[in-house]
Amino acid sequence: MQRSTHDDVRLLLEHQAPGGAYVASPSFSQYPFCWLRDGAFIAHALERAGERASAARFHAWVARAVKGRESDVRELIARGAAGDTVDHERMLPTRFTLDGSSEVDGGWPDFQLDGYGQWLWSLGQHSRGGALAEDVRGAAALVADYLEAFWDEPCYDAWEEGRTQHHTSTLASVAAGLRAAGVFLEPGYAVTGDAVWRFVRERCMSDGHFVKAVRNPAVDASLVWLATPLGLVDDADSPFARTLARVEEELLTRDGLLRYRADTFYGGGAWVLLTAGLAWHHARAGRVERARELLGLAERHRTADGNLPEQVPTEGTDAWFLDYWTRRWGPTASPLLWSHAMVVLAQLEIAEAACRGRHSTPTS
Ligand code: BGC
Repeated sequence: MQRSTHDDVRLLLEHQAPGGAYVASPSFSQYPFCWLRDGAFIAHALERAGERASAARFHAWVARAVKGRESDVRELIARGAAGDTVDHERMLPTRFTLDGSSEVDGGWPDFQLDGYGQWLWSLGQHSRGGALAEDVRGAAALVADYLEAFWDEPCYDAWEEGRTQHHTSTLASVAAGLRAAGVFLEPGYAVTGDAVWRFVRERCMSDGHFVKAVRNPAVDASLVWLATPLGLVDDADSPFARTLARVEEELLTRDGLLRYRADTFYGGGAWVLLTAGLAWHHARAGRVERARELLGLAERHRTADGNLPEQVPTEGTDAWFLDYWTRRWGPTASPLLWSHAMVVLAQLEIAEAACRGRHSTPTS
């Protein structure tokens, strides 16, 4: 079904809690929380759609949630600096209740650094539109100090898997977040951001392309983020171009993009947010027709009421695992706010790229 950017934006705004948090999915049993990762992308989509006040409320909410844990975080940083082992159970959480006040337990793989990097990155984008409030800057400095202290601590990735690995998109998110903090806080943070990025270029490559994790030569769709939106490489960067080619060759199905080949969550379906993210990247690179095709693929999965799910089964989906997760948690999350946000970002980028195309003067 057809929906306009306006409808998707409205859905995102409707599901922002009064305090500023965005719920991951209002109807899925496991997602009544706010993840920083999802939230950072959602805030950016709303910012781009002209809803700056909503993004500001989200950033202020994150700042309150993080500042409430300041003494714990400072103690962890001090322990890390003294060479003590830090307890992963005490690290900043991945997801928060919507009031930001209490941590969510229940055995969730909580130690994930990428969301904090993505939050700083998203806040950096927000800061381009006007000065940040002092309390938000204070919370950002705390997060930047935390990332500087622990960036090389192995942790769960963007898919909440692989606790003992160094994941490329996690490190890249941290690098981009610290670089952003280097602009809107203190230049010193960018020096660490550059060091993290060097680490990625040295350790997260194989056969001339970026890989899913150190010593894991597979590709993962989250590698697209290195260029769009994180801006660590551009489209023409040769390792990135090879990565993109492999991602499309191995992960693009007739229903959209898989997270990675060996995925078993809900059988390993095609993720709307990743397909839309790929469309966003192609539009940024000026390949508008390709971007439109991919966006069409993502939007084909709208339900009758226009909602976008997290993922859909596709060719190669493992029936046993699809059934297992469906019995355990019910059908896949829908609407997933992050899916709507990525579709909005792709739609806006395509519109801008098409406009750039119409107004560019041929050079020869
Ligand atoms: C995904 C995460 C996401 C979370 C909430 C998980 O299943 O792996 O990437 O942040 O859902 O949407």
